[in-house]
Amino acid sequence: MTRTILVTGGAGFIGSNFVHLLCAERPDWRIVNLDALTYAGNLENLTAVEERAGYAFVHGDITREEDVERAFATCEGEVQVVHFAAESHVDRSILSGMPFVQANVAGTQVMLDLSRKHGVARFVHVSTDEVYGSLGPTGYFTENTPLAPNSPYSASKSASDLLVRAAVHTHGFPGVITRCSNNYGPYQFPEKLIPLMIANAAEDKPLPIYGDGMYVRDWLYVQDHCEAILRVLEEGEDGEVYNVGGHNEYKNLEIVRLILRTLGKPESLITYVKDRPGHDRRYAIDASKIERELGWRPRFTFEQALPETVRWYQSHSLWLQRVRSGAYREYYRRQYGS
Ligand code: NAD
Ligand code: TYD
Repeated sequence: MTRTILVTGGAGFIGSNFVHLLCAERPDWRIVNLDALTYAGNLENLTAVEERAGYAFVHGDITREEDVERAFATCEGEVQVVHFAAESHVDRSILSGMPFVQANVAGTQVMLDLSRKHGVARFVHVSTDEVYGSLGPTGYFTENTPLAPNSPYSASKSASDLLVRAAVHTHGFPGVITRCSNNYGPYQFPEKLIPLMIANAAEDKPLPIYGDGMYVRDWLYVQDHCEAILRVLEEGEDGEVYNVGGHNEYKNLEIVRLILRTLGKPESLITYVKDRPGHDRRYAIDASKIERELGWRPRFTFEQALPETVRWYQSHSLWLQRVRSGAYREYYRRQYGS
């Protein structure tokens, strides 16, 4: 039977990596990519797959039923949804929360309602470890850690997770949730820590570290994350939550120093700036459930994949240059005042 994967947000960072993975690993599957092309959506990420038979792009907004209906009309056979589309940047959510409620909460409900109407076989909701809040110096987030989001971004993602849970519980909907730690790799919009620091260092610009730089994130290479999502899509249990992470904790300052060393740039580029309000101190994932139940494990080490990521941005300087123009510049001025 023909199978279509309806990917939302496939022009963004993780979504575009996932589309590339599907094209390579599941060449018989049809892919429909529904994306509104916000500031974070970039079709240049997908030029290599544009002409592929069985791939279709639908320009549309997940908050608009008519757009989502157009995407479903493009699907054939059994349909499974992988839902990435979201406003994704904590700093932007601090500046203005409403776009996050609209895209992440209302948009997810529209996707759930129409997915149910069209009888999808599976709905993977891509969420984040940030729904669990912040950790002290020890301990890990498990799937049973209570939700305690601290930013408008993570609060809107928590709300969307609960809407998926409610659809499963109320309607027997085939929803499943993944919660992943911070991703890095190709095609990440350069307002997030790693690509921002690579881009600035390459141009000998200051590297803005929030607060004392001792905040801890648990970094996962995007390819590993995409492989985990594919595993959950194919083998996960309806109604379950799967944490995805790589036991790879680093302080922000350590990451920035590693990037500078890889690029052969001086540490004098590091600049301490005003801290993010409500900044979560530490995230760390216990991913033993997905390892035990679905046999997924990260394949890439940070020591190997971070320098590769730095080289990717070096060899895609035109991509970076285009992304950094226009809307990004305007945002950058508001955020950093220069
Ligand atoms: P991104 O910001 O790079 O991409 C988001 C994509 O969604 C863009 O292509 C954008 O155009 C699209 N989009 C936004 N609003 C839309 C709307 N209303 N309708 C249709 N499309 C819309 O984000 P990302 O980093 O690729 O994250 C993807 C998902 O993974 C998000 O749900 C995010 O919460 C989650 N996540 C991200 C990370 C991370 O480290 N980046 C970690 C864990 C979970
Ligand atoms: P970010 O990439 O925005 O991801 P998240 O907030 O979702 O974890 O930030 C990662 C960490 O890097 C976080 O502790 C904030 C910090 N950070 C800086 O110190 N400077 C910056 O310019 C940015 C964007 C982030």
